[in-house]
Amino acid sequence: MRIVMIGTGYVGLVSGACFSDFGHHVCCVDKDAGKVAALLEGRIPIFEPGLDELVAKNVAAGRLEFTLDLAEALPGADAVFIAVGTPSRRGDGHADLSYVHAAAREMAPYLDPGAVVVTKSTVPVGTGDEVQRIIREARPDLEFSVASNPEFLREGAAIEDFKRPDRVVIGVNDEHAEAVLHEIYRPLLRNETALLVMKRRAAELTKYAANAFLATKIGFINEIADLCEKVRADVHDVARGIGLDTRIGPRFLQPGPGYGGSCFPKDTLALLKTAQDCDASLRIVEAVVTSNDTRKRSMGRKVIAALGGDAQGKVVALLGLTFKANTDDMRDSPAIAIVRALLDAGARVRAYDPEGMDQARALLDDEVVYCADAYEAMDGADAAVIVTEWDAFRALDFDRAGELLRERLLVDLRNLYDRADIERLGFRYVAVGR
Ligand SMILES: NC(=O)c1ccc[n+]([C@@H]2O[C@H](COP(=O)([O-])OP(=O)(O)OC[C@H]3O[C@@H](n4cnc5c(N)ncnc54)[C@H](O)[C@@H]3O)[C@@H](O)[C@H]2O)c1
Repeated sequence: MRIVMIGTGYVGLVSGACFSDFGHHVCCVDKDAGKVAALLEGRIPIFEPGLDELVAKNVAAGRLEFTLDLAEALPGADAVFIAVGTPSRRGDGHADLSYVHAAAREMAPYLDPGAVVVTKSTVPVGTGDEVQRIIREARPDLEFSVASNPEFLREGAAIEDFKRPDRVVIGVNDEHAEAVLHEIYRPLLRNETALLVMKRRAAELTKYAANAFLATKIGFINEIADLCEKVRADVHDVARGIGLDTRIGPRFLQPGPGYGGSCFPKDTLALLKTAQDCDASLRIVEAVVTSNDTRKRSMGRKVIAALGGDAQGKVVALLGLTFKANTDDMRDSPAIAIVRALLDAGARVRAYDPEGMDQARALLDDEVVYCADAYEAMDGADAAVIVTEWDAFRALDFDRAGELLRERLLVDLRNLYDRADIERLGFRYVAVGR
């Protein structure tokens, strides 16, 4: 199959590289000249484990190409995937579909008859209808299909998720689109991956429902963690106690500073907007969104409380800034609210993240001091705060940390350590829900 991937970000680049690894010919197109230039020089513009080798291998095999030019990429394409961003629209929280609509308008002149346009971006119900309308308006006589193929990969484990997904969802309104998508995913079907075929609108909604449910699970265990702190119970015991019930399942029951990233925050909001527009009530999702928003800043207050209730003039070392480990993605990271809460309270912040420093500089306040590693961040600080669960923070050298810190205080917002172990080393230990 000849595939064109429009948008070469976290989803487009991983999907493009994996499809080419399946044996398809893939041309990835992006508007960002810097990104395309980097990829043409063999540099990967994002951090995703294993992606550099996968891209290099498939470029060398002649199956994976990059270009800025749609007119060069599109002729002969069997399927054109849209994998552009769908951020929250400024002001009202609806999904901003301007990039998706622009991609549809831009591709229309170059589509061959029989082309299947597939939306991989996370888009509200009905977006496929609009993509179809935009292309139809530009090419009234063209035979083409529009399908939905939402992506469920997780940053940090994206290649594994793409190649061994729990399921692939395709939303189609005609048989030709179904046949083309079946052919594209055929290599996965050999491993007995479930390929769920449904109507386009159901596929669009499936993605939002999945993200809202996962966000609910995180929000739920975080609130149970807060209750555990009040009643002196360990949330990990509770999480294990409920997670082994197969009706509940153990995943996404890890308490922490609140969910962030490029998906859950914007997708839960966009789902609420869809529901409002349809006069449907999603009160559970509303509660999850509110709970998570307040939680992020409350983590800043938790640090201030650990500092004795007054952060004025105190120095805080933040270990980790990205919304989770193994990504450089800072979008909606809890670190943003924690930094603001600390700065508002008069603290100074020294920060280190293994991969997210460049993106952090663009998003965080100028006053943050960026450090070369965790120990430089702790040098002269009154507390060390683990914000992201990077492996690099799982085995800190506490002798060294004790010498560098002004107070032996560790606030562990990811519960990477055992209280007894840390207290034995003479540190005060503050965790989440235990
Ligand atoms: N990041 C994730 O983990 C993840 C997981 C599942 C689904 N998604 C969804 O996938 C979509 C893409 O997310 P992402 O994180 O990869 O976004 P991203 O911002 O990393 O990448 C989007 C890319 O599209 C490019 N682009 C925008 N308009 C374009 C156009 N008209 N032509 C060519 N290129 C264009 C941008 O330059 C950018 O490189 C979103 O809808 C997101 O919700 C993301």
